[in-house]
Amino acid sequence: MTLSAMCVAGARPNFLKIGPLMDAFARLSSVSASLVHTGQHYDRNMSESFFDELGIPDPVVNLGVGSGTHAAQTAAIIERFEPVVLKYRPDVVIVVGDVNSTIACGMVAAKLGIRLAHVEAGLRSFDRTMPEEINRVLTDAIADLLFCSEQSGVDNLKTEGVSAEKIHLVGNVMIDSLVRHRDKAEKSTVLNRLDLKAGGYAVLTLHRPSNVDELGVFGGVLDALDVIQREIPIVFPVHPRTRASMESSSLGERIAKMPGLRVIDPVGYLDFMRLMMSARAVLTDSGGVQEETTFLGIPCLTLRENTERPVTVEMGTNTIVGRNPDKIVAAFRKISGDEKLESKIPPLWDGHAAERIASIVAACRTSSSKLLL
Ligand code: UD1
Ligand code: UDP
Repeated sequence: MTLSAMCVAGARPNFLKIGPLMDAFARLSSVSASLVHTGQHYDRNMSESFFDELGIPDPVVNLGVGSGTHAAQTAAIIERFEPVVLKYRPDVVIVVGDVNSTIACGMVAAKLGIRLAHVEAGLRSFDRTMPEEINRVLTDAIADLLFCSEQSGVDNLKTEGVSAEKIHLVGNVMIDSLVRHRDKAEKSTVLNRLDLKAGGYAVLTLHRPSNVDELGVFGGVLDALDVIQREIPIVFPVHPRTRASMESSSLGERIAKMPGLRVIDPVGYLDFMRLMMSARAVLTDSGGVQEETTFLGIPCLTLRENTERPVTVEMGTNTIVGRNPDKIVAAFRKISGDEKLESKIPPLWDGHAAERIASIVAACRTSSSKLLL
């Protein structure tokens, strides 16, 4: 009998994680995989462009939940996902990452008695003010299969009392996407289009509520960027949350007076990879970008007080710098100098994480879930 796996994706980072999984399942005749899009992200450059560039199959349904408060968005996903699960009756539901779509769909599966797999399990910032940390802790508490991208995830889950047989260290599906699409990314013409020289610019992404919704913090980060943009151009593909914050405050006007800070719309995946590969350094508060720069060996400054991805600091090129303007400027000068940073690629970040996950999921077909109504 074929095992039926329902994969869930809702937000930009999810698409990059689910793409390699859909590919890996497609290569197994014992598994039939379908994809559900929650619609958490919906702008073309936050969603559809990833399906096109990564060749992700169309979802069987898009729940079309859109934006809202945490409660409203999570509730809408729960309410709209349950009938889909009841219709398709999958043997296993697979959620990725730490966004609201992850916990909402995870909860529906767990309460219906369907086996739940969480990809990117165990990561912990130990900062409960982050919405993602709540989503991680809750999803891991109800998952049956927990797939970790780095050893810290395994250690955290064991400390929380998760039994060892549920935990699998498999590597990083986000890096699978990068390995698979790297050649295409190298051919991107984005540097020409933006008139940039390899090694002659920095890349910036910012979207954490603790940075961009807190105008005092955002303003402090801008103090640092104002200094840096006089020394080197900074390309800044702006996340819609950040755009909203800039437009509803005076920060947008302030940024407009910094000619070296080049504000652009979010770019497609291949262009973004190309921008990172040739950057002198990257400044970010993104989870995925910390991992991608680690794999690429590009210096990265994380504008946060913590990271749930400590391997990127221990082995990679990531430095957690915080949001103090003087510290950001000093750290940028240090990492963007001529000296090459020592770095290693973390274990199992080899482009084959999704295959490992697919074969473990396929092996659980013998003990099927019971649908509870
Ligand atoms: C979400 C995730 C975050 C992840 C990020 C990746 C949660 C709680 N947060 O944050 O963990 O790092 O995605 O990018 O799930 N908007 C648009 N168009 C879109 C999507 C969003 O304009 O296609 C705007 C809306 O004004 C919306 C705001 O962005 O209110 C925030 O979107 P939302 O999905 O709630 O959270 P993100 O900040 O994107
Ligand atoms: N990304 C992209 N275009 C952009 C910015 C980001 O393709 O303009 C990609 C990049 O690969 C990154 C991923 O989107 O790792 C995840 O995005 P984001 O930073 O929004 O989410 P997080 O990883 O912080 O949850």
